Amino acid sequence: MKSLLIKMNVNGVDREVLVDPDDRLLDVLRDELNLKSVKEGCGTGDCGICTVLMDGKPVLSCIIPAFQANNHKIVTLEGLNSDPTMQKIQQSFRKYQAAQCGFCTPAMEVVGWHLLNTEKKVDKNRIKEAISGVLCRCTGYYDIVDAVYEVAQQ
Ligand code: FES
Ligand code: FES
Repeated sequence: MKSLLIKMNVNGVDREVLVDPDDRLLDVLRDELNLKSVKEGCGTGDCGICTVLMDGKPVLSCIIPAFQANNHKIVTLEGLNSDPTMQKIQQSFRKYQAAQCGFCTPAMEVVGWHLLNTEKKVDKNRIKEAISGVLCRCTGYYDIVDAVYEVAQQ
């Protein structure tokens, strides 16, 4: 029986969820709120695949206990899909074939979106730095950097 009631604003909607003290934010987002863009890679805070925004900053949802999200604002890719900058990023990912297996793509796009929305001048080195916390097994990263850079120049 879940014992803690937490309140979060998730993708602009106020939600109340019952959680156990050891539930992870990742599981609550995926299993309770059905936000399947949030993926689990390592589960130990090393790969960045589970990245979401908490109060506007990228965090690793696999190492955040769900109760720590109480009274915080969470944004996942589902909450950004209709954002004009995100739509440009996704278009650019298609153009540069920056998504191959796609497993890292939601985290890459969220991190790219965060970068473009928080910094005015973004060069390729800055993009490399920003996405360096997200592991991609497929692309070699260059296509992802090019895709984000194209939107940065617009
Ligand atoms: S699944 Fe969270 S950092 Fe790897
Ligand atoms: S596209 Fe496969 S892990 Fe990045």
